[in-house]
Amino acid sequence: MISSFVTAAANAIRAGFDGVELHGANGYILEQSLNPHINNRTDIYGGNIENRCRLLLDIIREISKVIGAEKVGVRVSPYSTLGDIPAYNAEETDQTYAYLASELNHLGIAYIHISDSPAIPEKTHQQIRSNFTNTLIYCNGLTPETAAAKISDGSADLVAFGRSFLANPDFVKRIEKNAPFNDVDYMSLYTPGEQGYTNYAILP
Ligand SMILES: Cc1cc2nc3c(=O)[nH]c(=O)nc-3n(C[C@H](O)[C@H](O)[C@H](O)COP(=O)(O)O)c2cc1C
Repeated sequence: MISSFVTAAANAIRAGFDGVELHGANGYILEQSLNPHINNRTDIYGGNIENRCRLLLDIIREISKVIGAEKVGVRVSPYSTLGDIPAYNAEETDQTYAYLASELNHLGIAYIHISDSPAIPEKTHQQIRSNFTNTLIYCNGLTPETAAAKISDGSADLVAFGRSFLANPDFVKRIEKNAPFNDVDYMSLYTPGEQGYTNYAILP
């Protein structure tokens, strides 16, 4: 499994990407490995926090050897229960992400991207922030105003937008011009065809 991630990362760089983001969030396999209710392995990849973080960290270490740690980011979603992944207690969750952040810091990767849904407690944020010195990205449910507040109070270095960008192909221009935003057409999310992808109005 580790080598398949390494191959994918190397292929991405060969194809011209600037870097890769490892998806450690939203109920996918790497988050399953972090979660004590899902990960029931009894070898060095299961059990305590160090062991449950090992798969993600091993993958990052091996990818970094091939493409450079500065080209690697990781996405996490502490407290997310997406994909029916069961929540675990706050203390252990915080310890998991504090440990992960400090190990990722040692590995020198470009960024940690936090999917903030549900909103993570301030303590979790503080631990990640103080253990990780490179770029911290936040996303999920942000508006230009809440994003600007996160940047100016130092809790994020960068912010990411999903739905707003989908509904507003000229999202940046609209922010700059203080123009109104198109609403997201929720009926067209997750559907095939051009509706919801290329039919949103742009500013003249
Ligand atoms: C149509 C759509 C599909 C998405 N699919 C996925 C997905 O397959 N996996 C995933 O981790 N996140 C997925 N996301 C979440 C986005 O990656 C991103 O976290 C989110 O849209 C950012 O928050 P925002 O839309 O509130 O700005 C999806 C979002 C949208 C709008």
